[in-house]
Amino acid sequence: MQRLSSRYIAGPTLDDALRVVRKLNAKGKLATIDVLGEEITSPDEARAIAGQYLDVLARVDAEGLDANVSVKLTGLGLELDLDLCRENLEAVVGDAAARGNFVRIDMEDSSTTDRTLELYRELREAGRSNTGVVLQAYLRRTLDDVDGLDNVRLCKGIYVEPVEIAYKEFEAVRANYVRCLERIVDEGIYVGIATHDEYLIEEALRVVRDVPRDRYEFQMLLGVRPDRADELVAGGHRLRVYVPYGTQWYEYSMRRLQENPKTAGYIAADTVGRVLKR
Ligand code: FDA
Repeated sequence: MQRLSSRYIAGPTLDDALRVVRKLNAKGKLATIDVLGEEITSPDEARAIAGQYLDVLARVDAEGLDANVSVKLTGLGLELDLDLCRENLEAVVGDAAARGNFVRIDMEDSSTTDRTLELYRELREAGRSNTGVVLQAYLRRTLDDVDGLDNVRLCKGIYVEPVEIAYKEFEAVRANYVRCLERIVDEGIYVGIATHDEYLIEEALRVVRDVPRDRYEFQMLLGVRPDRADELVAGGHRLRVYVPYGTQWYEYSMRRLQENPKTAGYIAADTVGRVLKR
């Protein structure tokens, strides 16, 4: 698991994340920094995560890096107390606004969807235009959720959801992804196209062909398909890499492993490769 984490996670500290972001920026890639910390159990821990985001925003600003932040509402206290979570989120979004930066609110499992969209809408109604949310194409509700949003990252979705509310077949998720992307683009909503699926990347290139380049971006996870990301950058598209850092790497790594069991093979091959090189 630690081998896995080193592929997908910048490292335990903010310095590690900034080092990775510097390299990405040098290759024309944007970044979004995620402070790992979903397993919080107390208000103080939630406040500490919010504090870490303020540190991230300050360092990104001071170093002139091209990176925004991605937050998980459970990390900011969603399951402890909605008001605490709102307070933490407002603090991070307010600080980002003062620095001309942006906050993406990640989407977690379906028990959080309504609350996440509600907090996002509250912020926008309060005039915070420097924030966006995430929609998951595997959820049957997602096409209806598009209306009224302003800035969306569209992904397939990574949590295990019941069939009553989620498409389960690979092709059904893909088809809904394309449907949702078309609706988002038709409505003129800024979109982050988060996928490594070649079919969806090609479909997205078709859907956005007449969209100005500053109205969309592709997004990929650190450690996944960096060569394809380079090609998109070379093609003149904005491309953002999701850069997680922190000591709470276990949950994040488990999701990557469950999503793509082939990953275990990459780790084995990588380990063997290193041993042989030695
Ligand atoms: P798919 O899983 O079909 O992968 C396509 C191909 O990409 C694979 O065949 C393989 O080649 C490569 N690949 C994919 N994953 C890999 C891996 N782990 N290791 C190695 N190769 C891999 N989800 C969510 O529920 N809420 C969220 O907020 C976010 N946020 C988010 C941000 C960004 C920037 C990305 C890219 C993704 C997310 N996700 C997410 C995760 C997303 O929902 C989804 O689980 C993954 O992106 C995998 O789906 P793909 O569209 O890449 O297709």
